Amino acid sequence: MLAWHIECGADEAILDATIDRYGLDAVLPKPAAPATVATPEAAPTPVDPAQIAAAMAANVADLESLRDTMDRFPYCELRQGARNFVFADGRPEARVMIVGEAPGREEDLEGRPFVGRAGQLLDRMLGAIDMARDATTPEQAVYITNVLPWRPPGNRTPEAGEIAMMLPFLERHIALADPEIVILMGNVPCQALLGRVGITRLRGQWTEVLGRPALPMVHPAYLLRQPAAKREAWADLLSLKARLLGQ
Ligand code: URA
Repeated sequence: MLAWHIECGADEAILDATIDRYGLDAVLPKPAAPATVATPEAAPTPVDPAQIAAAMAANVADLESLRDTMDRFPYCELRQGARNFVFADGRPEARVMIVGEAPGREEDLEGRPFVGRAGQLLDRMLGAIDMARDATTPEQAVYITNVLPWRPPGNRTPEAGEIAMMLPFLERHIALADPEIVILMGNVPCQALLGRVGITRLRGQWTEVLGRPALPMVHPAYLLRQPAAKREAWADLLSLKARLLGQ
């Protein structure tokens, strides 16, 4: 049974005993009927989290305020199951900004993006072109964030609604960090910022995101599963390096 749960993506124990959700209806009190029937005029206006995110994002003037504002954003349910809010890592002044998908288990525990196995591979990939998240020059440094700042349960793929409601913050994040080049690491940032998926076709093709050059690349987690794809990833890293050198 434990193996089956792990296979389904459950990787941590939350309660000592399981909850029989099918039996809850029988034991929970029924919600009281409303005293009066709401008139159509009185019905509450439905909240559009993406619209609220856009208004909140438009109000922030620097990365510090963006971090605080996102951390307080109440509408994304992923925050309930996450241990930490994961904002960014590296140097905001870097010429290159990497946008990943969402925190995994290690990132959730540490509150920093790309620190698990995929992140360690990413660091080695960057090192191969003489770049690093903690490099002191903007030429060699990178700035790293994700489409979502909270870990989806069991590392499941982010849902379209989650991506849409956090997108205004990501767009503001890119505008405030103001990188010369954006790297879209995997399908999720391509879906969010290009409205397209199919990373094996998109990778290596320079495109544009918010008026700046952008390069989709396969995610390092994919490279861990498919080492043969490292050949194309290497070609993409060289293409990035050439662009930075103005070649
Ligand atoms: N994968 C991502 O896309 N982002 C992380 O931070 C970790 C793994």
